[in-house]
Amino acid sequence: MAITTCIFDAYGTLFDVSAAARAAASEPGHETLAEIWPKLAADWRGKQLQYTWLRAITGDHCDFWQVTRDGLDWALEAAQIDDPALRDRLLALYWELAAFPEVPEVLAALRARGLTTAILSNGSPPMLAAAVQSAGLESLLDDTLSVESVGVFKPDQRVYDLVGQRFGCDRDAVLFVSSNGWDAAGAAGYGFVSAWVNRAGDPVDRLPARPHHILSDLTGIPGVL
Ligand code: LAC
Repeated sequence: MAITTCIFDAYGTLFDVSAAARAAASEPGHETLAEIWPKLAADWRGKQLQYTWLRAITGDHCDFWQVTRDGLDWALEAAQIDDPALRDRLLALYWELAAFPEVPEVLAALRARGLTTAILSNGSPPMLAAAVQSAGLESLLDDTLSVESVGVFKPDQRVYDLVGQRFGCDRDAVLFVSSNGWDAAGAAGYGFVSAWVNRAGDPVDRLPARPHHILSDLTGIPGVL
């Protein structure tokens, strides 16, 4: 079936989750981050995601802002940083993450072809609205769907169900795009056509389903349609 609908994961796919730690590290007074910001960013992201999976398994849902704060607190303690002002700054930067440079042109190209474009994310509605606005993407997206509608994180299938509920499309008319290998695998298993944006050159995740397409950034998306 022809693809009618392109659905994007948000964090790591459209928005650069390392940008908060990288930006804070370049600010006066944050010299402690100069050497360690990449590990801090990786620990923060890693724990944030682990907490989503664990809370989905145990049925102990909270919103993504909570796991974002909890992940940062773990990462700061692991780095032996006790600096409430820096914590506040890192969290504030998370609300205005930069989009990857190719994002506007790729979304515009998809829309010029008449495709529906939207976000499907673990992010809470206020976090996603702030990120979309700060990156200037409002006019390039038909909608922003949040897991908060179903109260469970990805890759629970109730999250992927939100796409068909919103747009009335069949699963195989959806191209789902994620830089998270486990999310791309979950979407493929659900029945979407799935593209994994493997920015880091990681090995493919050993999960029951595999993405249909593997790309190094979003510029390849129009080409797989
Ligand atoms: C999201 C996370 C998985 O945006 O990056 O859903």
